[in-house]
Amino acid sequence: MDHLQNLIPGLAGRMSMLSGTCEQHGAADVLARTGAAWFCPRCLEDQLATEARDSWMAERAATLMATASIPAKYVGQHFVAETPEQKAVRRQARMFRDFILAEPTWAALIMIGTTGTGKTLLACEMAQSLIKNAARSVRYITANGMISEIQASYGREGKSEEGEILRFLQYDVLILDEIDAIRATGNASLLLTEIINRRYNEQKPVIAISNQPLADLAKFVGDRVHSRLHENAFICAHTWGDARKGGMPQPANVLPITGRRP
Ligand SMILES: Nc1ncnc2c1ncn2[C@@H]1O[C@H](COP(=O)(O)OP(=O)(O)OP(=O)(O)O)[C@@H](O)[C@H]1O
Ligand SMILES: [Mg+2]
Ligand SMILES: [Zn+2]
Repeated sequence: MDHLQNLIPGLAGRMSMLSGTCEQHGAADVLARTGAAWFCPRCLEDQLATEARDSWMAERAATLMATASIPAKYVGQHFVAETPEQKAVRRQARMFRDFILAEPTWAALIMIGTTGTGKTLLACEMAQSLIKNAARSVRYITANGMISEIQASYGREGKSEEGEILRFLQYDVLILDEIDAIRATGNASLLLTEIINRRYNEQKPVIAISNQPLADLAKFVGDRVHSRLHENAFICAHTWGDARKGGMPQPANVLPITGRRP
């Protein structure tokens, strides 16, 4: 300390060398403002690193949420699993998540069921979990929406079909809603096949949602897409009633998690 005071005149009285011991990191001397409590420098370093990581994760999550295009209705909402069938579906979704987070791989999470059975909700919940907990990039879009976006590039200066296709390859996970509803006109089917095939080749997973049974899906998406959807497939069969028409789950459970319960 004397040495420091000689180096920086005026330091005397304002700074003191404090000694202390941390249970985790052991003894350490720290130079601190006179009167301040001792702190462990290694714990402080860890805390700053955690704060920097948390703030990076939060910033990244905000950016990823903005590009994911998750419909506002499903943001922050949870899929409530009450029956054994709903629990099985939730388990499939979690298994898919663990599978794709373990290593880069092709996989398909397929949600099949009639209207109002929570398919879009579960897919959007999965998207938000991948963004917030694993910093993965995700894009939600209907199959028709994706095809229209690609077709909109035709004849437009500065846009190319290839450029638009590449956009849909870049996301870590692509959610294609209403995949059974693609128009059978023009090159819609070819574009869907191109995206699925290239994502398959690049080991980039998809979540596909259909109101048609899996066995019938080839009629709507073509054999090549149908075949690829069967490799590393995690199938969620939403076999219950329409929640919009008062089917399960109960209304109290469908409130947004940010909403106030009565
Ligand atoms: N398990 C559930 N937990 C909480 N809310 C649910 C659940 N299932 C459905 N809902 C609610 O019911 C409504 C319909 O769900 P969703 O839009 O996900 O259905 P869907 O299967 O995608 O239907 P469609 O095939 O018509 O698009 C939404 O308001 C959703 O939040
Ligand atoms: Mg839906
Ligand atoms: Zn410490």
